[in-house]
Amino acid sequence: MNLVLLGPPGAGKGTQAARLAEQYQIPKISTGEILREVAQKPDALGVRVGEYINHGLMVPDDIILELVWRQLEQGAAQAGFVLDGFPRTMAQAEALDRFLSRRSNTDSPGVETLDAVLDLEVDEDELIRRLSGRRVCSKCGASYHLVSRPPREDQRCDRDGAVLEQRKDDQPEAIRERLKLYHQRTEPVLDYYRAKGLLHQVEGDREMGQVARQIEQILEQRSQSSGAGSRVSVETSHGDTDQTESRPPGTDH
Ligand code: AP5
Repeated sequence: MNLVLLGPPGAGKGTQAARLAEQYQIPKISTGEILREVAQKPDALGVRVGEYINHGLMVPDDIILELVWRQLEQGAAQAGFVLDGFPRTMAQAEALDRFLSRRSNTDSPGVETLDAVLDLEVDEDELIRRLSGRRVCSKCGASYHLVSRPPREDQRCDRDGAVLEQRKDDQPEAIRERLKLYHQRTEPVLDYYRAKGLLHQVEGDREMGQVARQIEQILEQRSQSSGAGSRVSVETSHGDTDQTESRPPGTDH
């Protein structure tokens, strides 16, 4: 299963990606998490990445692509993956298509592609509520919300007891920047996948379990209509990948 989770900041991508990774036993590749790890290092790359993410700016495509390919080339990701927050620019989306096409099994008749792109839709007031109430574990990165997902002990992580903190980019100014960039640079990516018949809208403002169930239904329908979730799609005579025959019911156009 090759999945992409998109949506504005705070839409619940990380929350749902973790569930999907567990359910399908596939690695979750979260560019935000990878970048926060890189930013912990005191080297030149770490300092540069930290500057971008702390201010809510997009990290340049060349840095992102190198980090993502490194993950996708690992053995565990050969059987499938869930991408959380990538691709979020058109250049990244086109590079991902080329990457998947290159790593396809040359003995098979088609090219490897994505199974589905899930777009979590949440209105802006709710996004701000979620981001401003989010707290993350300073040790393991587990995510909580002061109201909708509070830790058992006040300000302490359920897993390891470490103190919870607020992400630097969850401050109001950085939130505004992230939302602006999402509209400018990521919405065209949604159109790109919509045109390919891969995009599915998810009502991300519902309760977490309900969102997960809607995603499950979408993926079940998709796998029924495309023959057990095949990762290989039909290649047309002019070399493009034709998704039209396997378009499932409920796909957004
Ligand atoms: P990233 O960490 O990916 O940030 P983001 O996209 O802004 O998304 P968030 O992590 O804020 O939110 P989410 O949608 O994962 O929601 P979550 O599940 O946590 O990226 C950080 C930065 O890295 C970017 O700003 C950029 O600088 C850089 N970057 C990353 N990828 C990049 C790329 N590809 N190219 C360039 N730069 C890149 O949920 C949020 C909160 O809401 C939590 O508290 C959660 O508990 C709660 N919640 C979740 N679901 C629900 C629900 N259904 N109901 C109520 N509460 C909920």
